[in-house]
Amino acid sequence: MLSVLEDTDESKKSLEDTLSRLQLTKDQLLQAEKMVSLGQISAGVAHEINNPLFVISGEMEMLAMEEGLPKGAKESVENIRHQARRIEEIIRRLLEFSRKKEIKFSPLDINKALDDSIELLKYQVKVIGNVDIVKNFWTKVLPVFGDKNQLHEVFLNIMLNAVQAMEEKGGSLTIRTFSEIISENRLDFTQFKMGDHVVGVEIADTGPGMDESTVKKIFDPFFTTKKTGTGLGLSVVFGILESHKANIQVRSKPGEGTSFSIRFPQEKQA
Ligand SMILES: Nc1ncnc2c1ncn2[C@@H]1O[C@H](COP(=O)(O)OP(=O)(O)O)[C@@H](O)[C@H]1O
Ligand SMILES: [Mg+2]
Repeated sequence: MLSVLEDTDESKKSLEDTLSRLQLTKDQLLQAEKMVSLGQISAGVAHEINNPLFVISGEMEMLAMEEGLPKGAKESVENIRHQARRIEEIIRRLLEFSRKKEIKFSPLDINKALDDSIELLKYQVKVIGNVDIVKNFWTKVLPVFGDKNQLHEVFLNIMLNAVQAMEEKGGSLTIRTFSEIISENRLDFTQFKMGDHVVGVEIADTGPGMDESTVKKIFDPFFTTKKTGTGLGLSVVFGILESHKANIQVRSKPGEGTSFSIRFPQEKQA
């Protein structure tokens, strides 16, 4: 009887631990399920929409060439063409998202992968002028086993969001790499256990940040706060990192910027 009483605190703590572990697993399963069904639905819907859209775009091209259209009608045609192109872009991204691409895993230099992604970023973003890019690379960081193109997509999506968040006021985008040995078993690090060696990437911005309820939703497919966003960027990131057995953490507060930390299992050295 006495020992039971003494154990109560301990048992309560372990029960709480188990509960939060369960909740976390449930969340992760739910997210994984969402991703799978989204892939299936989007492939189907995208194909269905593509056909009528093709006809609309074709007809609009014809109309645009028509001579003697009243000015108002010309403007409408232009507007419809523009919007049709936007739908085409969304469809393209959806198909990309759901396509099972050939994935080739190989040992990668993560610093190099980030450098390449920064180049791609500069190419994609027209106004990067008021955003400073600060690189803080750990030169002795060891290789990661991954798919180069997929990791480019991961880094690019996160950096693109950061730049977009800072578009108005400018700021800095800091990209850091690090090596780490996991020092404790953490509930939110299901991929790793204490003592595991990981390679880390942190991408931080000084943008407006997010409140707690937004942070909870950012990996959900189609969640976006942008006028022309697709809400697919971070769901793609999540899926890719899952297949790399990597962990992603987000830290963000309104007014305090946002930082994404990714941890990859370190490739064993030969
Ligand atoms: N660095 C960031 N700063 C502030 N908000 C962000 C950041 N990264 C992501 N978000 C939020 O997460 C949402 C989802 O991002 P994402 O999946 O890439 O879709 P999209 O960029 O099309 O909106 C964004 O609309 C934005 O609200
Ligand atoms: Mg995005």
